[in-house]
Amino acid sequence: MRVLNHPILGDETRQFNATIIVDGKQIQAIEGEPIAAALLSAGIKKFRETQKNHKPRGIFCAIGRCTDCVMTVDGVPNVRTCITPVRDGMIISTQKGLGKWGIER
Ligand code: FES
Repeated sequence: MRVLNHPILGDETRQFNATIIVDGKQIQAIEGEPIAAALLSAGIKKFRETQKNHKPRGIFCAIGRCTDCVMTVDGVPNVRTCITPVRDGMIISTQKGLGKWGIER
């Protein structure tokens, strides 16, 4: 969900101008917005699984402090998606445990 008409900030004027691939699925996003914002607006809430019990985790602090939102981005694990801006063509995957280097297919 996106806030398209904010009573103080006004109307949303940005357009979708980036496509990211999340677990093999294409998602439209806005270049420069946090990855986590693009995922939440696309209805994705699970960003990673815990190492020991495989429990789902998603956004928590949203300011880059807790690491609950880490995902594998362009083959790099443990990227905090709440503070990492979207770039067109990013390949993102749900991180399992501590994550692995490389793009998971
Ligand atoms: S949600 Fe806490 S670091 Fe991203």
